[in-house]
Amino acid sequence: MSNIKHRKSNSPGKSSTRNIRYFTDVHGLPCIEKMVSSVEETPEPISCFITGTIPDWIKGNFLRNGPGKFEIGNQRFNHWFDGMALLHQFKISNGQVTYKSRFLSSDSYQSNQERNRIVVSEFGTVTMPDPCKNFFQRFLSRFELPKPSDNANVSFVTYKGDYYVSTETNIMHKLDPETLQSTEKVDWSKFIAVNGATAHPHTEPDGTTYNMGNSYTPKGAYYNIIRVPASKQAEGETLEGASVLCAIRSSEKTKPSYYHSFAMSENYVVFIEQPIKMDLLKIATGKLTGKSISDGFSWEPKSNTVFHLIHKDTGKVTLTLENPQTFRGSSQIVDQSIWGCENFIIYEDVYEEAQTHPSIC
Ligand SMILES: [Fe+2]
Repeated sequence: MSNIKHRKSNSPGKSSTRNIRYFTDVHGLPCIEKMVSSVEETPEPISCFITGTIPDWIKGNFLRNGPGKFEIGNQRFNHWFDGMALLHQFKISNGQVTYKSRFLSSDSYQSNQERNRIVVSEFGTVTMPDPCKNFFQRFLSRFELPKPSDNANVSFVTYKGDYYVSTETNIMHKLDPETLQSTEKVDWSKFIAVNGATAHPHTEPDGTTYNMGNSYTPKGAYYNIIRVPASKQAEGETLEGASVLCAIRSSEKTKPSYYHSFAMSENYVVFIEQPIKMDLLKIATGKLTGKSISDGFSWEPKSNTVFHLIHKDTGKVTLTLENPQTFRGSSQIVDQSIWGCENFIIYEDVYEEAQTHPSIC
């Protein structure tokens, strides 16, 4: 691993440097250094040191997911979202905890390991043409569309009671939560017309799961609200029965907004179309221009922020609020009752308008 110059965060202006072991230059953010450092997997369980007492009634597996390997051979990923998925299991039983971890045996991971170089492009890393190909093959490979990665390094999710690991492409891996091994690669686009889905779905108490995913059509980009049934009709099912509840056309045909997650209440899905734009042309031609997917993202503050409310029973867009001032001026949190890992905030002006709309409550 080569050395990286690192500025100490507590001495701004003074370019005090030291050699650090981590690949990512994290000026001013030393707290995330360890999050972007490579580690070895721990496939055999080890005992954990416990501070305090864990009640006997807590029993089960605490599962976590995230990037854990940032170098392949002498190449490095360029973005902290790109590391190879490392799956963690903390097994809790009788007040004791054991830990193990395993790299996801994704196609991306296996191909990279086999060739000892980065073969599959990730969000912030674009692969260079294979030096083993002849000149003409290398030239042609620049015109290929980027292949979606199955490096599912964002989250553990459940559909129909089964465990999956997910990123934001169309590929997830179904997983055995005991062994942390992939049992099946599952492609969203085989079930519904989407090009991917978020890694943060929301699940109803009955097991019905909602997610969102984009589709790219000749008419432009669409944001789709997806519903996956609560349970399987037959053994071995994955996403069978999934459906698109609602398709919302992007405000800009070839520049849809990026979203990492969405919010959900008992009756509504809340989707915020925000001014972080994805330039589809730039992304599609990334191999040709040597640009990564992240290079196709831009913050466009002059664009509006649009709130979409979709009724979960009817799939109808109940309300669309467009407000360029949404994130400016004074505002207050009036509703945090939305489900999900990230709190949802309805700002004062939006809420007032919502109050005048009888179908929203
Ligand atoms: Fe997230």
